[in-house]
Amino acid sequence: MATFVGFLILLLITLEVAADLESPQVFYDWTVSYSRRAPLGVEKQVIVINDEFPGPLLNASTNDIVHVNIHNNLMEPFLMTWNGIHVRRNSWQDGAQETNCPIMPGQSWTYTFQLKDQIGSFFYFPSLLLQKGGGGYGAITVNNRDVLLLPFNQPYQDLNMLLADWYNAHHWDLRRLLDEGHSLRNPDGILINGLGPYDANFVFEPGQTYRLRISNVGLKTSINLRIEDHQLLLVETEGSYTIKQYYTSLDIHVGQSYSVLVTAKSHSQGGSFYMVASSRFTFPEITGVAVIRYTDSLGEHMGPLPQGPSLFDYSFSLDQARSIRWDLSVGAARENPQGSFHYGNIKISRMIYLENGVMTNQNKLRYTINGVSFVHPDTPLKLADYFQINHVFTPGIIPDMPDQTRMPTLGTSVIDALYRDFVHVVLYNPLSQLQSWHLDGYSFFVVGMEQGNWNPSKMATYNMVDAVSRSTVQVYPSSWTAILIKLDNQGMWNLRSQNAENWYLGQELYIRVKGVGQDDPLTIPTNDEAPIPDNVIKCGRALLHFLP
Ligand SMILES: *[C@@H]1O[C@H](CO)[C@@H](O)[C@H](O)[C@H]1NC(C)=O
Repeated sequence: MATFVGFLILLLITLEVAADLESPQVFYDWTVSYSRRAPLGVEKQVIVINDEFPGPLLNASTNDIVHVNIHNNLMEPFLMTWNGIHVRRNSWQDGAQETNCPIMPGQSWTYTFQLKDQIGSFFYFPSLLLQKGGGGYGAITVNNRDVLLLPFNQPYQDLNMLLADWYNAHHWDLRRLLDEGHSLRNPDGILINGLGPYDANFVFEPGQTYRLRISNVGLKTSINLRIEDHQLLLVETEGSYTIKQYYTSLDIHVGQSYSVLVTAKSHSQGGSFYMVASSRFTFPEITGVAVIRYTDSLGEHMGPLPQGPSLFDYSFSLDQARSIRWDLSVGAARENPQGSFHYGNIKISRMIYLENGVMTNQNKLRYTINGVSFVHPDTPLKLADYFQINHVFTPGIIPDMPDQTRMPTLGTSVIDALYRDFVHVVLYNPLSQLQSWHLDGYSFFVVGMEQGNWNPSKMATYNMVDAVSRSTVQVYPSSWTAILIKLDNQGMWNLRSQNAENWYLGQELYIRVKGVGQDDPLTIPTNDEAPIPDNVIKCGRALLHFLP
């Protein structure tokens, strides 16, 4: 019997490997370099990919193996990260500071990862040194396999919409501000696809339906998107199809992605229409504008910009977030309905309560999670773990619960977790600024979100049926958000503030998801992590170690 089960497992592994080899491969060759652009009329050195700003679309389908060869022509080390992509079993390709050594100036490196069991709208961006403030970002589309239908009529066209706050200052100067312990002031503007107000144009064919794939790729500003006289039909967020609902405007927090369908009018009646992407919770409001023209019209627009929700109306935003539901009845990356994964029936095996905070270290601003502000060690955690290098990190340095009696400290926070654990995480934000949290390698269920303090009785109010599954979630001021995560992806995964300032100043940690029983073929879970890549870059103390 034991041999038979062992044989079955071997067979399954063999089949999986065989499937991998047959998977279509897509290749990208990207040169990352400086260029000059003036989206707000002030020229600035920006980061371009193959001379494009924003960078080119990464377009692939479920199960594809993606190869992205990156040439770093900057004067700084570089890493690209894939926001929302699960990079399954393979945090070696995640491109975060603690999973990879950087690609040094003048060097190239090829990322290789498979898009497993995932569809949807995502984006990539440079993860180091606040380079995102100079651009370097672009959209990622993961299409369903041909055999699967979309849960809506095939749109006439996809339109990628990258929304971002923008500073006229060089990202080096922004970085210096943070290094000196200051906060970033309000941005100078909001860009739509790298363009300033009234510079971005979209063309609608009367009567056709467009899929807008929208991401907030900025540094710190939540954005509200709306189109004059057109409704947004929400259909997808970060890889989950949602119950279809109309919105007149949509709040998109830093690092979040959405798909909405917009149906063009049957006649434009001689006009064009404004699309507005305006800041939320900043004073004053900052506004990005694009123009939608119709092919049946040469009309120049005359009307006022469409109004959004009032600037500091957090309830509007919270209610909207809570209205977004998973569509249980449709398939996504697989044929079976999304709702066939009954997350509400899974036993929670661990609870982690994370509270964000601020500390000052020698009068310099730092941000904390449970009282620990992340400092980068001399060797990336993933490599230190692999080569078993001592004194890089101590799992457990960050407590599972905030401890108000401890002074805030600097530390290299790693949470050790078991493969296939089902973890309940409460994110509590005691401060007056909105937080946006992201976990690499995963999607999680957003089961609760409320103003005020969390306590265990709140669990009775959780949505245990059709909460949306995503990878970036906001926490409103003096509020909490609860998420459930099935830890089914081994590796070293970055949990971070998507607010670039908070992240840069220490608001992150890593979750190290380890397999157990890897020597015993009868115990599933086994260790199914991808091996260290042949082309791995070494740095720090990993330079003293050699691959087997
Ligand atoms: C993206 O890939 C899909 C599937 O191969 C293809 O149908 C589509 O035309 C591509 N889109 C773009 C913009 O290249």
